[in-house]
Order: sequence, then structure tokens, then C-alpha cells
Amino acid sequence: MKDSIRHLIQQALTRLTADGVLPAGLSPAIQVENTKDKTHGDFASNIAMMLAKPAGMKPRDLAEKLIAALPADADISKVEIAGPGFLNFYQNTQALAARLDALLADDKLGVRKAGSAQRVVIDLSSPNLAKEMHVGHLRSTIIGDAVARVLEFLGDEVIRQNHVGDWGTQFGMLLAFMEANPAAAESELADLEGFYRAAKKCFDDSPEFAERARELVVQLQAGEAECMRLWHRFNDISLSHCQKAYDRLGVKLSPADVKGESAYNAELPGIIDALRDKGLLSESNGAQCVFMDEFKNAEGNPLPVIVQKAGGGYLYSTTDLAAMRYRSQQLKADRVLYFVDQRQALHFQMAFEVARRAGFVHDGMQLEHMGFGTMNGADGRPFKTRDGGTVKLIDLLDEAEERAYSLVKGKNPDLGEDELRQIAHAVGIGAVKYADLSKHRTSDYSFNFELMLSFEGNTAPYLLYAYTRVASVFRKLGKSFAEVDGSLDLQAPHEIELAGKLAQFAEVLNGVAEKGVPHLLCAYLYDLAGLFSSFYEHCPILAAEDPATQQSRLRLAALTGRTLKQGLELLGLQTLERM
Ligand code: ARG
Repeated sequence: MKDSIRHLIQQALTRLTADGVLPAGLSPAIQVENTKDKTHGDFASNIAMMLAKPAGMKPRDLAEKLIAALPADADISKVEIAGPGFLNFYQNTQALAARLDALLADDKLGVRKAGSAQRVVIDLSSPNLAKEMHVGHLRSTIIGDAVARVLEFLGDEVIRQNHVGDWGTQFGMLLAFMEANPAAAESELADLEGFYRAAKKCFDDSPEFAERARELVVQLQAGEAECMRLWHRFNDISLSHCQKAYDRLGVKLSPADVKGESAYNAELPGIIDALRDKGLLSESNGAQCVFMDEFKNAEGNPLPVIVQKAGGGYLYSTTDLAAMRYRSQQLKADRVLYFVDQRQALHFQMAFEVARRAGFVHDGMQLEHMGFGTMNGADGRPFKTRDGGTVKLIDLLDEAEERAYSLVKGKNPDLGEDELRQIAHAVGIGAVKYADLSKHRTSDYSFNFELMLSFEGNTAPYLLYAYTRVASVFRKLGKSFAEVDGSLDLQAPHEIELAGKLAQFAEVLNGVAEKGVPHLLCAYLYDLAGLFSSFYEHCPILAAEDPATQQSRLRLAALTGRTLKQGLELLGLQTLERM
């Protein structure tokens, strides 16, 4: 609806420009917002205030001309001027009801992509296999998964790429440790973090061990068979830890999505050659670098993208260039989204620019770094265990489920143990995911069990519970969401407001897809749940005054239930029929 109002305003502007009321060459960003107070219409725009100055008119006078120039539209019943010159749009409730009737008849709830379908690569999760996956990779995994689901639902073809860190000098140390402790290796690898620490200790304490580690790096690079066997073994175990976490989180990632750094090894010399051929390389202290005028440090000195070290080794950037070329040439991506910590922003800006200059990616390919803030503890400081160690993902999920278990048991002591466990899983994991998803992606975020498990506010328990309330209406009737006939007739203000929200689902999902920001969907579902709750309070469904009203209200409830369920599923949350 907002988009179509924007379009109407655009037509009015074009007309007023042609008539000489507005000067030529204006191309304002037209803003249309939902109004808070529905007695003043459903949508408002400040366009007349924005353009009053360049038009040399009073905002209210311009607003009047705009209204006169707006094309008629069946979805809008009237447009009024309010306050200093806002345009307030009232939607036509009959047209709204008809739109929702059409959504009810559609499996996809009327959701279509605004632009044309694309092939999108999503770079997500991407932990370093040398260590245990920790909370830092949780955000990438959860946010990337939600955006991937939304894009797929909109009709894009999504290719997930788990760009794991499975290569580098630290593997020498780990392989040396495996070699020296063949028996211990298998059991100790169950705790990667401990394994890493033990290996590091040997490396620091024993010069012979350190020497062996360095030899193994050379052998690994040369592809020596026994060394490769150890390396594969190590990565298999580490990846299986990750896969367990993905499965438990209900994240759509499988071993087939893994394409780690090592997969690009053979391409790296060619990347350097190609950069040289393009005249982009310069040598600095023996290292091969790309310098670009627009990237300078605080002192104004040029910043390099180092692509090969003096000793011949390649770097993180080199691998990313190879990955971009692969995603362009082999995967033929239209768009590539990188869900990686905000602190890597400069790395991506520079790597994207090198890739463009070198022609590694086709001109139309969109490269977007979807950065996110740091995950802090409840105290706002970087997330650490009490003794200062990194918090393991698994421990965190265990605690979430335990807490959810006591919470649900407290509320509903009669539930059987199996059902209780199942609910605790959905609520605990859902709470962790939702807390992350509901914040703006780029802000830092404080992990707080109490807040995320509260039944009040914008939380998973609140939304999951809201869904069960809708479900319970239908359970009482012995009907499914699909079994509601008749048509919508919107009368009461609470019906109209809920209906207006329901009509916005597609628009919200398109916003999430465009900017990679799932918090928009969270905010939408939270509003929707709140509106349903007031509707439910004010407009009796089962005790409605007549059958037609009951039918209509049931249809609204069914659409709310389906929208909540679909929305939560797109966020990667498992809904419950009761809790
Ligand atoms: N493994 C990296 C890290 O943990 C993230 C990789 C992100 N993806 C990429 N294409 N660079 O920091």
C-alpha cells in the first residue's frame, strides 16, 4: 500500500511539474508512513512540506494542489490535509477486505518479489574450523539464515555458501599435536577449544614441536598425503560440531553448503597473475599489494590490500577475491550478500573494489556486506564466561533450553515431560534467535536471558504465545485455518486496523530482502500480534452477534494465524500449537 501511495504521489508530482507548479528536476525521496492514530487516516506523507521551499509555496497550499492532482485509486477512500501540511490517506475498507480475501486464497499470502527474481549467494556462518564455533558466528548464522529464507520465499534462487576458515598456518600446530598424540587426538577433539589450547601450549613451550608445526605447514601446502589425511580428519570433526549446532538451531545449512577457504587454493596464483596483468599490483616490502586512491589511513597514507606475503603465502583477501570470481563466473550470481562482523567492513569495501577493477565479477553483480555489531554480555561488555573464556555456543543453547523449561513448567505444570521438553526447545532456541534478529543488524547487541525469555515485549515467547492463542480459537471450533468460508466485511475499528496490518506482509518482506534486515519482520509480527490481541478483546469471535460477522472475524483470525506462522518460520522459529 505504501508503495502504491508513493506511486500515486509521484504521478501527481509529474503532473504538477508539467503544469509548471513545481520546478523541473526535482526528484525527492517520497516518504509514506503508517499513521499512529487511525482517526487521522491510515497513511501519511510529508511530501508537501519537503517540496514547499523549492516550489515557493506554503506547504498547505502545495498539499491542496497535490490532492487535486492525485489520480483516483480504488484503494483510497479520501485524502486530507492535516497539521502543517501532511497528506493523510484513508484506505477504502471494502477494497482492503477484497485484497485480504485474495490473500486468504493464496498459499503464499500474496507475497511476491517487488523486482525480478535473482540468483543470490549468501555467505553466512563461516566459522574458523581450527577453533570451536563460538557466539561470534551465531549472529552471522542466524541473521543469514533468516534473510536466506525470506529471499527464497520471495522467489529468489538462493545459494548458501559457508566460507569456513579451514586453511592457514595455525593448522601446522594442530596437525603436529594430532601427530604427537594419535590416541588422545580423537577424544580431545571432542573439545576443540581445549585441543587448540593444548596444541598452542606445546607450540609455545617446545621449540621442537614448533619446528615440526612449521614443517607440517609446508607439507600441507605441498599436499603431502599423510598430512592431508590428518587435515581432512581434523576438519571433518570440526565441521561435524558445526553441523550439530546448525541442526539444533534449526538453521538451513548442510555439509553441501560448505565451500571453505581451502577450496580456492588452486586459484590463488591465477588471482595474482590476473591482478598483475591488469596493472593493479605493486610490491611493498616484498609483499604484493593493490593500492587504490580512495583508501587511505588516518594519516593520509595509502592503505594496501595485501594479496601475497613476501614469503609467497596468500591471505584472507586473496581467497575472497577468488571466491568472488567463482561466485560470478561459476555460480553466475546476480547478488552476493556477506553476513560478516561489522569490523570487517573495510576489508570488504576494499576487496569488492579490487574485484571490480580486476574484472573478477560481472558488472551487474551486486556485492553487499551485511555487517553486524558485536555480541556483548548483559553488562554491555564483550561476551565472556565468568573466568574470562569465550562462551561456547552449545553451553549457551543448553542454558537457554533449561531456562525455558523451568519457565514453561512454572506456567503450565500439567504438561507431560515430552511435550514440556519439546516446548522448551522451541521457546529456548527461538528466544536466542529472536533476540538477535529483532535488533537492528548493525547495532551491538547485549545477550540477556531474562529479557529474551520474557513473555512481555518484542520477544519469542510473546510471539509464540500469541500464535497459540489464534490456534486455540480454531482448535475450539475443530477447524483449520483453511476452513473458513464467506468473505470479509470490515466494520469495527479494531477489525480495520488489524486488516490494514495484514495487508502489509509482502511489503515488509520485500524490505527485509532489500536491506538484509530481519528486524523489520520482527517488528511487524510484534505489531500484528498486538493488534490481534486488541481485536480479540473488542470483537468477540465465537460469541459474535451474527453468523456473517463470525465468518468475517474468523477469516481475519485465520489470516493472522497464517501470517504469524509464516513470518516466524521465515525467521527460523518453530511455532507451537499450544504452550
Ligand atoms: N572465517 C571468517 C571469520 O571468522 C569469516 C569469513 C566470512 N566470509 C568471507 N567470505 N570472508 O572472521
